[in-house]
Amino acid sequence: MSKLDKAAKAEADVLQELRPGQSIELLKELHILTREGRLNQDSRRKLKQVYHLFQFIEKLLRELPGEGAGATLADHGAGKSYLGFIIYDLFFKALGGGHVYGIETRGELIEKSRSLAARLGFDRMAFLNLTVAESTHASELPAQIDVVTALHACDTATDDAIAFGLAKQAKFMVLVPCCQAEVAACLRQTKALALSRTPLAELWRHPLHTREIGSQLTNVLRCLYLEAQGYQVTVTELVGWEHSMKNELIIARRTGHAKASAAERLRSLLAEFGLASLLETRFRLP
Ligand SMILES: C[S@@+](CC[C@H](N)C(=O)[O-])C[C@H]1O[C@@H](n2cnc3c(N)ncnc32)[C@H](O)[C@@H]1O
Repeated sequence: MSKLDKAAKAEADVLQELRPGQSIELLKELHILTREGRLNQDSRRKLKQVYHLFQFIEKLLRELPGEGAGATLADHGAGKSYLGFIIYDLFFKALGGGHVYGIETRGELIEKSRSLAARLGFDRMAFLNLTVAESTHASELPAQIDVVTALHACDTATDDAIAFGLAKQAKFMVLVPCCQAEVAACLRQTKALALSRTPLAELWRHPLHTREIGSQLTNVLRCLYLEAQGYQVTVTELVGWEHSMKNELIIARRTGHAKASAAERLRSLLAEFGLASLLETRFRLP
C-alpha cells in the first residue's frame, strides 16, 4: 500500500468510529486519538468502552423531561473528567442546554479540566475542587441534580455520592464502585461475631477473600439502602472496562417507592456483620 493509501485508510478508520459533530480535539486530549489524529487498536478499544458506558447514561438522560435537554449531571471523583467531557460532547453540546459538574479533590486536575473546557467552548461544564461530601452543601451546585455518576470514586466516596444523590433527589445514579475498605476492616476485627462461629466465616478467612467479600457486601448494602430510599436498582457488569478490575455497574432509578423489606434486610445484614453503627452514619433510614 502506498503512503497516500495508508493515510487515506487511517483517516477512514477514524471517521468510521466517530459520531457526527464529535470533537477530535477532545479525543486527542483524552489520548483516544494520537496527536496525528490516528486511531490504533488500543484506542479503538478504549473508544468502544467509553461509548459503552455513555450509552447507558444517554438512555437515562433521554428519559428526563425534554429528553434531557435541560438536565443536570454531577460526576463525582471525576479525575480527568473524561466521562463528563464525553457526555457533554456527545449529548449536551448539540442540545444547547443542560449542565455537567465535575467534583474532584485534586486541584491540578480541576485546573486542567477547566482550561480544556474553556478551550473547547464547553461552557456549561463546571469543575469544583471539593470532596463529594462537601459538594452536597456547596452553593455552586443547584438544589436538584438529575443524574449522579461516580466512576471508581475511591473507597467511601461512592457512599458520599449516594448521600449526595439522595439529598439532591437525583432521578438516576450510575455508580461503578472502587475498592472499599470499611467493611473489610470490620470483618478483619471479627466484628461479625454472630457469623464467625459458623462455616460462613470461611468466606473471609483468607485476606484476599476478606477484601473481596468486604467489597461484595458493601455493594449489597448500598443496593439495599438505595431500594429502602425509593430507588429501583439494577446491577450489571461494565464489560471490558480497562481502567480497573472493578467493573460492577449499579444503576439506581428513583421511583419514590421506599421498600420496607429492603430496609429490614439492610438492618438485619448490618446486625449480622457487626456493622449496626453504620445505621447512624452511612445508612440512615427514615
Ligand atoms: C480512580 S480515580 C477515577 C477517576 C475517574 N472517575 C475515572 O474513572 O477515570 C478516583 C478519583 O476520585 C478522586 N476522589 C477520591 N476521593 C474523593 C472524594 N472524597 N471526593 C472527591 N473526589 C475524590 C481522586 O482524587 C481520583 O481522582
